[in-house]
Amino acid sequence: MTNDVVNKSRRSLLIGATTVVGAVGAVGIAVPFVGSWNPSAKAKAAGASVKVNISKIEPGQMITEEWRGKPVYIVRRTQAALDGLKKIEASETLRDPASESLQQPTYAKNHTRAIKDEFAILLGVCTHLGCAPTFRPDVGAADLGGDKWQGGFFCACHGSKYDLAGRVYKGVPAPLNLEVPKHMYESDNIVIIGEDQGA
Ligand code: FES
Repeated sequence: MTNDVVNKSRRSLLIGATTVVGAVGAVGIAVPFVGSWNPSAKAKAAGASVKVNISKIEPGQMITEEWRGKPVYIVRRTQAALDGLKKIEASETLRDPASESLQQPTYAKNHTRAIKDEFAILLGVCTHLGCAPTFRPDVGAADLGGDKWQGGFFCACHGSKYDLAGRVYKGVPAPLNLEVPKHMYESDNIVIIGEDQGA
């Protein structure tokens, strides 16, 4: 699958592999296929949960899985990326930094929007009109604000920007942070998307 597809295809799904595109001087990051145990297509359409083995995601990489017909981004954040989230918060450039809107389960209502800080689990659906934002972890990207850009997601449809916790920036069309789907960890390496024991 080539890099540009995510930007250009509304609600398009890249399942099992995701790539990164830098606007000037492409920044390519190899993303391994990470095994998951998916239900049948019929069960998926009905919203069955999806188990994902996250053990082979390298720090800084993202994979994409499908749940309920939507892309789910799973990013393994580095310590530098987590530090970057704090810097962004301090800059007061986010629309809803504390995630006060109802876009995440309560267990993800924290500054990393995650159960485990290391892993961001987000619906890859822009909250403006539903395009699939592109993963842009390239800190300092000139086309996304230069020194101010700590990595995140960019929606090329109308220019919305999110940080690596899926928190939307001010001054873009998207009104809300990327949604955190309900999920839970079955073990250290296995996350279940679509179940959370009612938490
Ligand atoms: S759909 Fe993402 S900015 Fe419009």
